[in-house]
Amino acid sequence: MNKARESVHGMWSSRWVFIIAAIGSAVGLGNIWKFPYITGEYGGGAFVLVYLLCIAMVGIPIMMAEILVGRRGRASPINAMRYVAKEEGASRAWCLVGFSGVLAGFLILSYYSVIAGWALAYVFQAIGGGLNDVSPERAGELFDDLVGSPGQLLFWHTVFMIMTIAVVARGVRDGLERAVTILMPALFVMLFVMVGYAYLEGDFARGVHFMFDVDFSKLFQVCSGPADAQDCRVSSEPLLVAMGHAFFTLSLGMGAIMAYGAYVPDRASITGATIAIAGADTLVALLAGLAIFPIVFASGLEPSSGPGLLFQSLPIAFGSMPGGYWFGTLFFVLLVFAAWSSSISLIEPAIAWLVESRGWRRATVATLAGVCAWLLGIASALSFNLWSGEEYQILGKTLFELKDFLTSNIMLPLGGLLIALFIAHGAGRHMALNELSISRQRLFNAWWFLIRYVSPIAIALVFLQVTGLLEALGVA
Ligand code: PHE
Repeated sequence: MNKARESVHGMWSSRWVFIIAAIGSAVGLGNIWKFPYITGEYGGGAFVLVYLLCIAMVGIPIMMAEILVGRRGRASPINAMRYVAKEEGASRAWCLVGFSGVLAGFLILSYYSVIAGWALAYVFQAIGGGLNDVSPERAGELFDDLVGSPGQLLFWHTVFMIMTIAVVARGVRDGLERAVTILMPALFVMLFVMVGYAYLEGDFARGVHFMFDVDFSKLFQVCSGPADAQDCRVSSEPLLVAMGHAFFTLSLGMGAIMAYGAYVPDRASITGATIAIAGADTLVALLAGLAIFPIVFASGLEPSSGPGLLFQSLPIAFGSMPGGYWFGTLFFVLLVFAAWSSSISLIEPAIAWLVESRGWRRATVATLAGVCAWLLGIASALSFNLWSGEEYQILGKTLFELKDFLTSNIMLPLGGLLIALFIAHGAGRHMALNELSISRQRLFNAWWFLIRYVSPIAIALVFLQVTGLLEALGVA
């Protein structure tokens, strides 16, 4: 047992700061941009239900496992897994999970930064009065103009990457703590205001029905085209995407939360922290959906319009609500901050590992890593314009879509599965019991059951389901 191990990157000043930082990582574009648009694409209620089940049965237990390993190892995910494996007599190969996480973090950041760049562009659009009195058509044009311009997308992608690197270079704790404590509550308030507007002016009832009426047949269907002439095929893709999104939105499966866990004070309760983080994250996603769908329906937009959904719907609300100029500006500023505090955690595992293993300065490592992610990101930016054509697609997906699919739906759940297996079958019960120090035996047993059986089996089943279906359809 090694209780004396210390992180070379410093520690959170309290458990509360860890919770705030982890909420900063979890709440981001995934909640406000991605959750509504994939819910729209995959048909609403049934998708939301599976997503919520995955959060509860898979996400929460795995988040506890990640924090636990991080805190026990007190190092970057790669080294934390290595140390804990060694201590518990498990194979050192487990640290490969950390490497795959680092890779996933780079890939995600390389498109996350492009979308965060859209939010930045909208801040300036709002300040310049570009969102005043916009009609649904105009909102659509504004969005198309932005994503159609490689120059603009690359510019904002660059600005956002510099912002991310600037924070990571200094160490995650400085600055982040204060910014997140003020801005996260502000984001909550802002979302409540938007839901209030959607309630008064949007088609609220239809939005609520769309999000919460469960039609299970939609879980095995992928549809495209306008609502009245839809073209649907059988697929279990929605299931895979709902599970993948549970990982993405909670920042799980790639070591982000594990890296933050390495800086958690010894006696802090991991269970309580996890519930707070997952609860806040889920609340933000549901609020974002309740703000967006009523406006989508009231303005005659398609819920399945894809990644542009948020950017095409909310400006309509800002354009017509009293004080919309200020609300619009503030909303996009807060969205940028939410994305910022998430992007930092995407690259932290890589930086922490390089600092530990090479002994290089944080600033140097952060700059190097940032340049790599920025270069990879060029492909994501061009996926929306110059490289959107079929000749640039792989498996029918643009590079942006491919990176998103591969990371969220395959790499993160696979990482999560391996972390669950590591805890339950590699490191073992004794270590977990010791580190979690849950006083109530029943609670520990419940978690142990989830992490040992339920989470891995659920992930494996979703994977098998999908491959099985592909085979049945003769695709693979
Ligand atoms: N959870 C973040 C979001 O919802 C994205 C993220 C994924 C951050 C994985 C870190 C790791 O926007």
